Formats: sequence, structure tokens, C-alpha cells
Amino acid sequence: MKENNMSRRSFVKVSTASLAAMSLPSIVAAGADSPESPAAPEAPKAPASPQQQPQGAAPAPTVRPGDSDAITRAYFDSLLVETRYMDAGLPSTKFELFGETFDTPIMTAALSHLRVPNGNGLVIYAQAAAACKAVHWFGMGEDRDLEDIIATGARTIKVIKPHADNDEVFRRIRHAVGAGCFAVGMDIDHAFDGRGGYDNVFGLPMKPKSTAELRSFVQAARVPFIVKGVLSPHDARQCLEAGVAGIVLSHHGGRVAYSIPPLLALEQIADVVKGKMKIFIDCGIVSGMDAYKCLALGADAVSVGRHLMPLLREGADATAKRIQAMTAELAGVMAATGVKDLKKMDPTVIHRMTF
Ligand SMILES: Cc1cc2nc3c(=O)[nH]c(=O)nc-3n(C[C@H](O)[C@H](O)[C@H](O)COP(=O)(O)O)c2cc1C
Repeated sequence: MKENNMSRRSFVKVSTASLAAMSLPSIVAAGADSPESPAAPEAPKAPASPQQQPQGAAPAPTVRPGDSDAITRAYFDSLLVETRYMDAGLPSTKFELFGETFDTPIMTAALSHLRVPNGNGLVIYAQAAAACKAVHWFGMGEDRDLEDIIATGARTIKVIKPHADNDEVFRRIRHAVGAGCFAVGMDIDHAFDGRGGYDNVFGLPMKPKSTAELRSFVQAARVPFIVKGVLSPHDARQCLEAGVAGIVLSHHGGRVAYSIPPLLALEQIADVVKGKMKIFIDCGIVSGMDAYKCLALGADAVSVGRHLMPLLREGADATAKRIQAMTAELAGVMAATGVKDLKKMDPTVIHRMTF
């Protein structure tokens, strides 16, 4: 089990000016239809300052879509890594999950509706994961999509929506396990619409789940069951109680505009989990260094979604090469910090920028 002995850190305050100045990497999918992406309340562009606000206009919103992505990037960049060369050696990025061994802890993310001109983006994404022996995740989609994904040989985890109708959840669990998924899960953060109501995805009503309902999914799955969208020690505790095998720390790519960075939540959650469940993390990971910071602070593996999406137009090889390049960068940082394998990650190499 990994240690997590980094001293409690205070949150780095990010000024509005620095947020405005920040340029995020291009995350817009190459033609991907993204009904999944930010469903945060539609907010008009805020005037830059109260002085500019026209008289009688509604007050400027305090959060704007995209804020959580920008804050997440700022948080990644606020963490620094110390080097440790003495007694160091070449590292291994082999990653073990639920009894299987993968070449990298850098996984794909649970995406859906990937339309690209050169074929089925969902299948290309899975082919890339299979080619670099990475864990593959799949989000919303038809049963047929999942079967096509499994046929690529990608070892896949299917994430099911929190359908209000639990019979639909059980049906999808049965289908995913029967199709060959080695784990299944649920994105619990898709239950609400951001306007005080329950979400409705393509006409399918959603609802938050209780701990007892989660337990019933865990029991029905008979493969490891994972909960995606956990960002608090509270939810992590309930997942433990329900017998969940792993959690994904995620704000669903900024779906909740005001969310804290998953990496900031990680330390407290790792304290609760104490190695009893796997901890995965996504949102804004674009490099091996980003992945390293997550792994050092207690994550078992990371997922990369929007950063890979534009590459799908170039095909599975190009997408796989990017995952491999990120893995090589991760290995480079592991070597320079004296970490020979993923089980030896040490949070004390991470420093908070205070200057
Ligand atoms: C096009 C698109 C589709 C997505 N579909 C799903 C989905 O069906 N289920 C899910 O749990 N998350 C879904 N997500 C969220 C991703 O799994 C992930 O949490 C998010 O994109 C953040 O990771 P990233 O910054 O690496 O993209 C989707 C994201 C995108 C961009």
C-alpha cells in the first residue's frame, strides 16, 4: 500500500486574473459530438468587472462553465517535483489491476459519441488502448458499440449511467459482463441537471443512488464495480461501505463548473480509502508529468480523454503513440525521482509552489 504522508497543504489561491490569462490545451474533439460534456448551468459571459456591467443587468454569475477545468490545470501546475538520483535505476511502468497486468497506468477515459470521419471513433479509441496494453474505459453507448469495442481486444471497463430505473442498470451490468468487460461502474455525477432537477440523458431519466442501491449493483456485477465522479471523503466512505472495488476522482471534464480539482481531493480521499479500493483519477491530464503527480499523491492509475480525442482522426496508431509517449515521460520522471516501480511512488517528492 502506498504511503500518503505528505503534510496537509493549504489550497493555492488562484486569482481571477491568472485564470483569465490561462490558456488551456486544445480540448475540442475532432468532430466529436459531446452531449456528455459540461452540462453545468448555461451562464452568460460575465462582464469583466462590476463597472462594465450595464445598469439593471442581472448580477454576474460567480462560476462560469470551464472554471473547474482552468482551476484543475492551475492546480497541476502549482505542484513541483524534487529529483532523487542516488540509488535510482530504470523504472517499470507495469500496472496491475484486478489480477491483470498492463504496460502503463495511463488509461483511456470513459468517453461516448465519438464521431470521426475515418471510422467509429469509439472503436479507434479502443484499438489504441489495446495496442499499448492500456486499460480501456467506455461510457454511454449502445450494446452493439460495446461489443465492437470488446472485439478489438481492449480490456474494457464499462461505465453505466445512474438510470432512475434500476432494472435498466441491472440489464446493462449483465450485458457488459456478458460481453467481456473485466469491470463495470457508474458515473454517479450524472444524476442532476445542474438546475435543481434530475438529469435526463437522451430521454432516459437519471437519479442519485443510495449506498444500498450501490451495494446491489456491486453484488449483481460479480466483476469489480467502480464508482466514477467521487470528489469527497463522504462519497468515498459510502463507496467503501457498499463494497465498491474502485473510485474515479473526476469532475466529468468540468460538468460541474465550480468543482475542486480531483488531484486536490485525492490526498484526503486516499486517507479514507487506505488502500481498500483502487483510486483512479481523470480531468485535464495531458502529460506524463501530470500522471506522475496523481500517482505520487495516491492514485493507482489515471485516465486521459479530451487530450487524445483530436488524435482519433489520425487513427489508432497515432492515438496509441501519444499514450506511449506520455508513459515514456512518466517513466522519465520516475527515473529522476528514484521510483523504480509504481508501488514505490512517494508523495514526499511533491512540493507546493509558494513563491
Ligand atoms: C465526448 C465525451 C464523452 C463523454 N462521455 C462520458 C460517458 O459516457 N460516461 C462518463 O462517465 N464520462 C464521460 N465523459 C467524461 C470523461 O470520462 C472524463 O471524465 C472527462 O472527459 C475528463 O477527463 P479528460 O479531461 O481527460 O477529458 C465524456 C467526456 C467527453 C469529452
